[in-house]
Order: sequence, then C-alpha cells, then structure tokens
Amino acid sequence: MKPLNIVIFGAPGSGKGTQSELLIRQFGLNHISTGDVLRKEIADKTVLGSIAKSHINKGELVPDNLIIDMLAKVLDNQPPGAGVIFDGFPRTLEQGKALNEMLAARNTELSIVINLTVAEEELIHRLLKRGEISGRSDDNLETITARLNVYKSQTSPLVDFYQREGKLVEVAANGRSIEEIYADVERAIDSILA
Ligand code: C5P
Ligand code: MG
Repeated sequence: MKPLNIVIFGAPGSGKGTQSELLIRQFGLNHISTGDVLRKEIADKTVLGSIAKSHINKGELVPDNLIIDMLAKVLDNQPPGAGVIFDGFPRTLEQGKALNEMLAARNTELSIVINLTVAEEELIHRLLKRGEISGRSDDNLETITARLNVYKSQTSPLVDFYQREGKLVEVAANGRSIEEIYADVERAIDSILA
C-alpha cells in the first residue's frame, strides 16, 4: 500500500498535536512534531537548540534552512510505519516547497493536508489554558499574540498553496469536541484510502 503522508495544519492551538495522537493510534503512523524536536534540542543544549530558543521565546520562526535540514534528518531516521504525520511543519511556503522536494527525492509524496480551522478568540483561550499546565515558555499572552501574527503572515499562505495542489481538506475545529473533530479528520483520511 502507498504510504500515508499527512500534514496536519492549523494555527497554534488548533489541536494539531491532539488530532495527531488519535491518527497515529488508528493508522500506525510516525509522528514528526517539529516543535517537539526543537524543544528536545533545547533540553539537550545543542547548538540548534540555543538558536531555536531565542526564536521560540519571541514566538518567531526558526530560519527555514535550519528547519528544513533538521526535518530531513528526522525523516531519514523514522522507524518503519504506514507513513508520516507532519505536525508544525511546513510553517512557510519555502518549507512547503522543500517538503514536496524531500518526499519526491524519497519516491513518495504528500497524501493529504488537513487544515484545522479555529477562530482566533478560541485559539487564545485554548493556548492560555494549555499554558497553565504545559510549562511552555511560549504559552503566554504576549508570545501567543506574536505566534498568531506569524501564523497569519508567514504560515497561512500555505492554505492556498495546498488548495492549488488539490491536497487540502478543511475540518471545522471551532467549538467542537476532540471526538467530533476527529470524526471529520478520520472521514477525510478514509476518503483518500478508498
Ligand atoms: O509547533 P509548535 O507550536 O510546537 O512550535 C513551537 C515554536 O517552535 C513555534 O512558535 C516556532 O517558534 C518554532 N517552530 C519553528 N518552525 C517550525 C515549527 C516550530 O520555528 N517549523
Ligand atoms: Mg503541537
């Protein structure tokens, strides 16, 4: 069977990580969360980690070339699986183009991009709530505001990019439960497996 390569897309706080966990369990996918990889680099006090830290704390993006090189390495170290779910990557058009090239060079391609849409008010509410327990240095109002602006200016152009490629499926994720949202996510995946 063809590998299932999924981009789970959406603004910060849209539920990418949560929906990824459910997908992984059901479809046996590997999960690449770029944010998690960066936080591990910080914890391990690597050079990349120290560069990433200053960007993350300001809610800004780590430069494309660093992220793309990191992603390629992580991708080549995946255990066997049904495919990969990309969470938090791509975040710029440049990263989107690089991902297409990276997959093509490995004789595979993206199967689908799932765009979780959530209103800004709810995103802020969810991220502030998460901040109370996540301990993440970027889940505070100032950094959240910066992250949402970065999403709008640098990341959201990918919606059109994937729409043009015929890969985009939108899932309304506002004011609905995790299970309700996942039912739509699952339906989207089933439709490409059929
Ligand atoms: O995806 P997540 O919200 O965990 O990412 C946290 C932070 O990591 C982002 O706000 C950004 O500073 C950084 N990041 C990045 N480029 C990516 C993914 C994450 O710069 N592709
Ligand atoms: Mg996440």
